[in-house]
Amino acid sequence: MKKIKVNKIRFWLNEKLIVTECLPSETALELVHRMGMQSVKEVCSEGDCGACTIAVGSLDESGFHYRSVTACIYPATKLHGTHVMTTEGLGTPDDMHIIQSTLYENHASQCGFCTPGIVMSVFALFVENLEPTLDEFKTALEGNLCRCTGYRHIVIAGEELIETMHEGIFSADVILPGYAGAIQEDLKNNKTVIEQVEREYYDHLPVDDYYKPTTLSDALDYLRSKPNIICGATDLFVEANIRREFKHRYLDISGIPEFNGIEQINSEIRLGATVTLDEAATNQMIIDNFPALCETVAIMSSQQIRNVATFAGNICNASPIADGTSALMGLNATVELMNSEGCTRIVKLKDFYLGYKKMEMREDELLSAIYLPIKEYGYSGFIKSSKRTNVDISSVNSCLSIDVKHDIIEEITISYGGVKECTALALETMEFLKGKRVTTELISEAMEIVSKEFTPISDVRGSDEYRSLLIKNHLKKHFLRMEGEEL
Ligand SMILES: Cc1cc2nc3c(=O)[nH]c(=O)nc-3n(C[C@H](O)[C@H](O)[C@H](O)COP(=O)(O)OP(=O)(O)OC[C@H]3O[C@@H](n4cnc5c(N)ncnc54)[C@H](O)[C@@H]3O)c2cc1C
Ligand code: FES
Ligand code: FES
Repeated sequence: MKKIKVNKIRFWLNEKLIVTECLPSETALELVHRMGMQSVKEVCSEGDCGACTIAVGSLDESGFHYRSVTACIYPATKLHGTHVMTTEGLGTPDDMHIIQSTLYENHASQCGFCTPGIVMSVFALFVENLEPTLDEFKTALEGNLCRCTGYRHIVIAGEELIETMHEGIFSADVILPGYAGAIQEDLKNNKTVIEQVEREYYDHLPVDDYYKPTTLSDALDYLRSKPNIICGATDLFVEANIRREFKHRYLDISGIPEFNGIEQINSEIRLGATVTLDEAATNQMIIDNFPALCETVAIMSSQQIRNVATFAGNICNASPIADGTSALMGLNATVELMNSEGCTRIVKLKDFYLGYKKMEMREDELLSAIYLPIKEYGYSGFIKSSKRTNVDISSVNSCLSIDVKHDIIEEITISYGGVKECTALALETMEFLKGKRVTTELISEAMEIVSKEFTPISDVRGSDEYRSLLIKNHLKKHFLRMEGEEL
C-alpha cells in the first residue's frame, strides 16, 4: 500500500449535486459512469470519436457557458465547480428533448451508440448559440463519428433544428432544462476549493497526486517538487489511457488567473498559458491581427478538443507535427517561462526546441504565456497536409508570414512541422528570399532550396519523398495564396 492524495470535488450532474472523492488518474467518463450515467459511451478512449461527449458548464468573466468535452480524456478533478450535462439530464424516451426527438424523427440514429455524444455536442452548440448556421452545426459535430447511420440524416436533423430555431417557435428554455438556472446560481455562490485527502492505496496505482490550485503562489510552491504540468490534458490523458503512461504527480494550472486571458501589451498580444484554442480563435484581437492562427485552429482537432486544449500544451508536448506550434513559430512568437520563484524569462519559439522532445525549459519552470508581435503582414497563412481535413495529424504543416513592399520581400518567416525532429524555420530559404523581388523564377528557385533544407523521415503519415514534395509545394501554395490564387 502507498499513500496517494484523492480530491474531494463538488459539482452538479444534471439535476443532482455530487460531492465525491476522485482518484488522481480518474477521468470524467469513469466518474459519470460511477454515478450511473450509462448514456456516456466509451469507444476510442483517446478523444477521437466523440461517443463520450458531455457538456460542462462553468462560470467565467463573460458568464456561464456550456462546452462539449470528451469525457474519456477529461480529468475528473476538473469537474469541480461545474454543471455537467449528459443526455439523462435532457429527456427520457417518453419525454424527449427537442434535440433528441429531432434526431429520432429524422432517422439520424441506428445502433444509437454514437447518439448520446452527438446529442451533447448539438446541445452545447445550441445552448450557446440559438441560431447557428449549418456550417456551425457541422463544425460542432466534427469530433463525433457515426459508423452506421451515415451523416446525411444527422445533417437533415440539424437543418430542421436550425430552421425551427430561426422561426423563433421555441425560446432558449427549450434547450436548457429549467433546473439549470438554480444550479448556476448555486455555483456562482459556492466557489469552494478542492479539498485533498490522503488515502492508503494499492501500490500499483500509478499517480500519487493531481493538484489543481487556484492561486499562483500555491502553484509555484508545488512547482518546486517538479510535477508534470497539465492544462487541457488532451495529450497527457491520451498517453495515460492508450499507452498506460502516467506521470507521478500532476499540477493542473488551468485555474490560475495569472495564466489566463488574452491582452495587448504594447505591440504584442499576450496569450496566457491556459487560453484554449477555441478562446484564442474567437478572440477579436486574434481574428484582426492573426487570421493565420484562426485558420490553424479551424483545422486542428475537433470542437470538443479545441474547447480545452491550449497552445501552451501544444508547444510543450513538443510533437514535431504540432499544428499550433508551427503556426506560432511562423508568426514569430516568443514564450515566457516562469520558475518556482515566480521569475520569468523570454525565449523565442524558434530557439525553444533543442532536439526531439527537448526544450529550453528547466524542470522547475513552466510556460506562463505566449507573445505574438503585431505586424502588418502582407500575407500570413497556415497549410496542413493530412489524410482527413478534420481531426487528423499532419504529414507536413507550414506557416508563412511575409511583408512585401513594392514587390520586394522585406521580412519573411517560414516554419515547417513534420520535416525533422522538431518544428523548425526554413532559415536558408528565408535568407535567400529576403530583399528580393517576388517573381515566378524566384519562387521556383526557393522551392529547390527549401526541398534541400530538410531531410524528412518516412512513417505511417507519409514517405520521405512525399514529405519532400509537400515541403516544396507548401511554399508554392503560400505564394499563390499571397497573390490571391489557390492551387
Ligand atoms: C482527438 C485529438 C485530436 C487532436 N488534433 C490535433 C491537431 O489537429 N493538431 C495538433 O497539433 N494537435 C492535436 N491534438 C493534440 C493536442 O490536443 C494538442 O497538442 C493540445 O494543444 C495540447 O494542449 P493541452 O492543454 O491539452 O496539453 P496537455 O495534455 O495538458 O499537456 C501537453 C504537454 O505539455 C505540457 N504542458 C502543458 N502546459 C504546459 C505549461 N503551461 N508549461 C509547461 N508544460 C506544459 C504537459 O506537461 C504535457 O507534456 C489532438 C489531440 C486529440 C486528443
Ligand atoms: S471514447 Fe472516443 S472520444 Fe471518448
Ligand atoms: S448510430 Fe450507430 S454508430 Fe452512429
